Amino acid sequence: MGEPIGIGGPDFAQDGIACSALEEGKPVAGQANGEAVLIVRRGEGFFAIGAACTHYGAPLADGIVEGGTIRCPWHHARFELATGEASGPPALDAIPCFPVERRGDRLFVLPRPKDPSKAPGGNPVRSASGGPQSVAIVGMPNARLGERACAFVVPKPGHRFSFDDMIHFLMEQKVTRQHMPERLEVVDALPMTPSGKVQKFKLRETAKAMLQTA
Ligand code: FES
Repeated sequence: MGEPIGIGGPDFAQDGIACSALEEGKPVAGQANGEAVLIVRRGEGFFAIGAACTHYGAPLADGIVEGGTIRCPWHHARFELATGEASGPPALDAIPCFPVERRGDRLFVLPRPKDPSKAPGGNPVRSASGGPQSVAIVGMPNARLGERACAFVVPKPGHRFSFDDMIHFLMEQKVTRQHMPERLEVVDALPMTPSGKVQKFKLRETAKAMLQTA
C-alpha cells in the first residue's frame, strides 16, 4: 500500500487537456481548482472525478476502469464514473464529480457547482424558463449510502415533469451528477413559511415517510 496522493500535475482547469491525448479507460491524473482530479475517457464521453479513494485515500489513477466504474487499487472499492457513487465495498462515501467543458479538442474541468440542497435560507430553485415552477431538494435516509437526495418539484401550471426532465433541468443549473437526486416527487405546492422560505424539515419528514411505506 502506498502513500495517499497530493495535488499536482497538469492543471485541467487552466490549461485543459487534449481529448486526443486521453485513451479509452486510462485515467489521467492532474488538478483543477485546488483539487486532485482524474479524467477518464469512455468512448466519446469524458468524466472528471476525484483522484483519491474515499476509503483510505488510494490513488485512483492506479485503479482499473471497468464498464462505467473505476476500481480502487488498494482494497478494490468501486466508484461510478458518472455519479461518483461508491457502488462496491469497502468505500462508503462517494468521490466528487466535476463538470467538464469541451472547447475544440481540449477538455477543461470546471469548478464544482454548489449543492442546491444546501442553499442558504432554504430558498427554492426557480427556473427562468422551460423548467418547473419551483424545486426543493432534501436529504433522505438510505440504509446503504447514508443519505441521498429527493427532489420535490412543482411543475408549471398545465405541464408535466418527469425524472428525465429533472435531470436535464438540474444539469442546466450546473448541479453535479454526484448531487443529483435519486428520487422525484411531483407536488402541487411546497410547504412554505410565512416569510416565503421552504420548510425543508417537512419535506425531509415526507421523504422519510415515503421510504418507510415503499
Ligand atoms: S483505499 Fe480504496 S478501497 Fe481502500
